[in-house]
Amino acid sequence: MKILITGGAGFIGSHVVRRFVNTYPNYEIVNLDKLTYAGNLENLLDVEKSANYKFVKGDIVDAAFIQNLFDKENFDAVIHLAAESHVDRSISNPIEFVMTNVVGTCNLLNAAKTSWKGDYDKKRFYHVSTDEVYGTLGEGTEMFTEETSYDPHSPYSASKASSDHFVRAYYDTYGMDCVISNCSNNYGSFHFPEKLIPLSIHNIKQNKAIPIYGKGENIRDWLWVEDHARAIDVIFHKAKSGETYNIGGHNEWTNIDLIRTLCKVMDKKLNREEGTSEKLITYVTDRAGHDLRYAIDAKKLKNELGWEPSLQFEEGLEKTVDWYLANETWLNNVTSGNYQHYYEEQYQNR
Ligand code: NAD
Ligand code: TYD
Repeated sequence: MKILITGGAGFIGSHVVRRFVNTYPNYEIVNLDKLTYAGNLENLLDVEKSANYKFVKGDIVDAAFIQNLFDKENFDAVIHLAAESHVDRSISNPIEFVMTNVVGTCNLLNAAKTSWKGDYDKKRFYHVSTDEVYGTLGEGTEMFTEETSYDPHSPYSASKASSDHFVRAYYDTYGMDCVISNCSNNYGSFHFPEKLIPLSIHNIKQNKAIPIYGKGENIRDWLWVEDHARAIDVIFHKAKSGETYNIGGHNEWTNIDLIRTLCKVMDKKLNREEGTSEKLITYVTDRAGHDLRYAIDAKKLKNELGWEPSLQFEEGLEKTVDWYLANETWLNNVTSGNYQHYYEEQYQNR
C-alpha cells in the first residue's frame, strides 16, 4: 500500500509519519509538505533514511502539481493533515487558512477522485480534523459527540469545518471512501513553540513572561500526541467508510490551572525554588472570539474500535517537559529559524 501523508513535517503529522514508517515496513509512505514556518524536517531525523519513506516538498493549493503527483505515484490512500493550524494566525490572516485548509483539501479530494476513477475498493481518504468545528461549550459537563452540530467561530475552525463538509460531500456525491476524525488539543514532543504548552516551556526556561489570555478560565481537553497518532492508525485501518470519530483524552484543564501545574514541573526540573516560574504568569488581552470550553466524548471510538488514551495528563506533561529539556538543539534551531535551512542543505541536491 502506498500512502500519501500530507503535513508530515508538522507537529502531529511527524508523529503519524514515524508511527506508520516504523509499524508498517511493507507500506510506502510519501510525506508531502510545503514546509511553511510550521514544517520542520528535523522532526523526522530518525526515520528520514528508512527505505519505505520519501519526502516531497509541495503545496496542496497548487492543483496541477497535486494532480501530477497523484498521476505519478498512484496512491492507495491519503491521510491528510496539512493545514494552517494556529487560531491566532487565522485571526490576522484568514485567507491563508481558506487557501490551504479549504482549497488545498478540495484539490486533494479532486486529485484522488480523478486518480481512482470511481473505483474506491481498497482506497481511502482520511481527513484529520479538530473538535473546534463544534464551537464552544458552557461550563457544565456537556461534551462534543459525533452528532453535535457544527458551529465554528474562528477563521481556523470555520476553514476546518468547511473542509470536513467537502470530504463528506465527496463521500455522499461520488461514493469516495472517506473517514474523518475530530480531535481535541494535542501536546507532546515536536510541538511548535507558538502554542500554549511549548511556548510556556520555552518562556519559563528563559525567565520570560508566560502570556495568559483573558483570565485564564478557558478550558481545553488535552491529549498526548502519540495517543492521537495511534488513534489515527486504528481509525485508518478499522473505520467503515463515511464514519466520523471524535478523539479526546478526558483531560479538561483551565488554562491557568494547566500553566500552574506546568510551572511546578518546571521548577522541579530546573532545580528552582517552588513558586519561581509562577511569577512569570502575565495576563494579557484576550483572544478575539475565544471559545470558552472544549470537551470530547470519545465513547464511540472506544466502544467500536477499542481505542483509549494511554497517558494521564500529569504523566504526559512531565514527559513533554523532559523532552524539551533534553532536546535543546531542536528548540534552538526552531527559535533561531535555522530549521528552515534543513531542506536546502540536505534534500535539494539529492
Ligand atoms: P502544524 O501547524 O504543526 O503542521 C502543519 C503542517 O502542514 C506543516 O508541516 C506545514 O508545513 C504543512 N502545510 C501547511 N500548509 C501547507 C500547504 N499549503 N501545502 C502542504 N503542506 C502545508 O499542525 P498540527 O498541529 O500538526 O496539526 C495537523 C493537523 O491536525 C491539522 O489539520 C490540524 O487542523 C489538525 N488538528 C490539530 C490539533 C492540535 O492540537 N494541534 C488538534 C486536532 C486536529
Ligand atoms: P493554543 O495552544 O493556541 O490552541 P487552541 O487555540 O487551538 O486551543 O491555545 C490553547 C489555549 O491557551 C487557548 O484557550 C488559548 C490559550 N493561550 C494563552 O492563554 N496564551 C498563549 O500565549 C497561547 C498561545 C494560548
